[in-house]
Amino acid sequence: MNSKIPAPVAKRLALYHRCVITLLESGKELVSSNELGERLSLKSSQIRKDLSYFGGFGKRGSGYNLNYLKESLENILGINRPWNVGIVGAGNIGMALANYEGLLRDNYRVIALFDRNLSKWGTSVGSRRIPIIPIKEMCSKIEELSIEIGVIAVPAEYAQSIANRLMECKKIKGIINFAPVKIYVKNVDLEDVDISISFKALTFKIWSESLGKE
Ligand code: NAI
Repeated sequence: MNSKIPAPVAKRLALYHRCVITLLESGKELVSSNELGERLSLKSSQIRKDLSYFGGFGKRGSGYNLNYLKESLENILGINRPWNVGIVGAGNIGMALANYEGLLRDNYRVIALFDRNLSKWGTSVGSRRIPIIPIKEMCSKIEELSIEIGVIAVPAEYAQSIANRLMECKKIKGIINFAPVKIYVKNVDLEDVDISISFKALTFKIWSESLGKE
C-alpha cells in the first residue's frame, strides 16, 4: 500500500503525526480536518483527501479520533516498530542527531556512530552512551546490531564512498544523506536533508515578493 503513496503525501502524513501528538499531549481526543488544516496551513479538503487514502479515520462530522489517527499514521509511516539507526561521521551533525530525543520518540534508535578519527573511537555520545566505533568495523557492527538505516554525516567528498559501503551491508534498507551532494544508490531508499535548500527557498520567496512590490 505504502509504495503507491506519492512522496509529498508521505511528508504531509509525517506532519499530521507531529500535530496529532501535540494535540494528544494537550489533552484533546478529537480533531476536525478544519482544525488540522488551520494548524498546518493546509486546506481541510487536502487533509481529508490524504487521509482517505487509508480509509476512514472517524465518523463524518464528529472529527477524527486522535488516538486512532495516531495509531493509523504510525502504521502507515512504519513507526509502529523501532528502527535501529547508525550514523557515519561523529562530528557536529552526527553528534547533534545522536543527542536528538525527538528521533527516539518517533521510534528511531540511534545505536552507533562510525568515524575514521581514531581519537573518537571508544568514546560515547549522550545520556544513552551511544558508542563511536571505528569505520572499518562498520559493516560487521551494522549486521550485529541490526541497523537498518544509515545516516551520512561526513564531508561531501566522502559521501558517495560511504553510501557504497553502506549498500554493501546487507541489513541497510535506507540512507539519510546530510552531505550537500547528490549521491547514487541502488536497492536502498534515499532521503536527502539540506538546510541550505530551505534557506534558498526562503530567500527566493522574500526576494521575489520584494521584486513584486517595486
Ligand atoms: P564535522 O567535520 O564536524 O564532522 C565530520 C565527521 O566525519 C568527523 O568526525 C570526521 O572524522 C568524520 N569523517 C570524515 N570522513 C570520514 C570517512 N571517510 N569515514 C568516516 N568518518 C569520516 O562536519 P559536520 O559539521 O558534522 O558536517 C557533516 C556533513 O554534514 C558535511 O557534509 C556538511 O556539509 C553537512 N551539513 C549538512 C547540513 C544539512 O542541513 N544537511 C547542515 C550542516 C552540515
